Amino acid sequence: MTNTSWHPGSWQQRPVRQLPAYADAAALEQARRQLAARPPLIFAGEVAALRERLASVARGEAFLLQGGDCAESFDELGESAVRDTFRVMLQMAVVLTYAARMPVVKVGRIAGQFAKPRSSDTETVDGVTLPSYRGDIINGAEFESDVRRPDPQRLLTAYSHSAATLNLLRAMARGGYADLHQVHRWTAEFVRRSPQGARFEELADRIADALAFMEACGFDAARSPQLQEVEFYTSHEALHLHYEEALARRDEGSGRWYGGSAHMLWLGERTRDVAGAHVEFLRGLDNVLGVKLGPNAQPDDALRLLDALDPDAVPGRMVLISRMGADQVAQRLPALVRAVRDAGRRVVWCCDPMHGNTVTTANGFKTRDFNRILQEVREFFAVHAGEGTHAGGLHFEMTGQDVTECRGGAQALTDDHLAARYRTACDPRLNGSQSLEVAFLVADMLRSRLTP
Ligand code: PEP
Ligand code: CO
Repeated sequence: MTNTSWHPGSWQQRPVRQLPAYADAAALEQARRQLAARPPLIFAGEVAALRERLASVARGEAFLLQGGDCAESFDELGESAVRDTFRVMLQMAVVLTYAARMPVVKVGRIAGQFAKPRSSDTETVDGVTLPSYRGDIINGAEFESDVRRPDPQRLLTAYSHSAATLNLLRAMARGGYADLHQVHRWTAEFVRRSPQGARFEELADRIADALAFMEACGFDAARSPQLQEVEFYTSHEALHLHYEEALARRDEGSGRWYGGSAHMLWLGERTRDVAGAHVEFLRGLDNVLGVKLGPNAQPDDALRLLDALDPDAVPGRMVLISRMGADQVAQRLPALVRAVRDAGRRVVWCCDPMHGNTVTTANGFKTRDFNRILQEVREFFAVHAGEGTHAGGLHFEMTGQDVTECRGGAQALTDDHLAARYRTACDPRLNGSQSLEVAFLVADMLRSRLTP
């Protein structure tokens, strides 16, 4: 497929799924125009840097950690939610780096993760039918007809919210917070008291010792940006094509188009139709692209998506995110991995152990079991070990905060605990303690990979 007929609006000629019907076309157009006049949130040079990092993941020399909320919320504009997610991701990355002896590329589901695909257009409660909640960029979650009506003004709020979030992330990544000398400070109070909090303290002590030793030997940590700063990239599902189109920009240097809303954009399981609008839009952008692959994905689907989205096989461009469900990985994933490998494609294989493992409890909460999540990761590693490919990364729905949304883990959360702090705007997330625990357990898997 050539790029000649592509332009930022060419997706509008294709069948489009999962976009809301806006009643007021003029209001939508006005919001699009206002967004198009705003600066991009990221720059093409940063996208190129992420591509380079992911090319090393695809070669088996680094590891990807992607995580954040299922859906960000406009109500959470405080500092703490962003900071807590950022720091638990730093902790997880340190744990994984230490175990795998590899750099960990950090990508948040953050600063733009506002649009959600839904299985039904409407929701009925007590005989009243309203449009489904599709994420804060489209409508509000509250079951009120005014709130559920898609409102184009929300596109601008999403942009402002993303800009504020990204500003804080950039400050934390570069302004001293992420300095490895601060490693003891990253633990949230509620995690500090847990077994994984204690385990992290031990690791932090070892890191502090190693730094002190190297500095005693004359190594100048103050001149080493690798120790003082982190690279932190953003990503979200590229679902709302009006938003994404309005933020597409042409890079002055190369003349190529990139999406200005995030470094990495991914296609969900419901919008990856190769003939559809979402694939059409993303194929023309220079960003790193992800594609979710669920249990129904066929090897041929993966190959056709790669041909459409990455015809030139650019190193580090593609991340294939498998989300099979713990029971299905062993059966479904090998054929996909083999087909991609045998086509000579070097992609990043990433495991999302969340979306294939969602269940509803008897008391009505959407949840996920910690052990199922871990089981999917384990199966994912086993498949790649069997095929001689690199299990390149992990994709989590998680928060640094003390929520009660997923069952299990060392805190042994049960159905009865879920009501206490069930705060997600969409799917259940690992809390700060469960996230760190997962990192330690995955670290053990990575370490056993190093010592056959
Ligand atoms: C998600 O990542 O929140 C999501 C909706 O995933 P999927 O498209 O894999 O179902
Ligand atoms: Co989700």
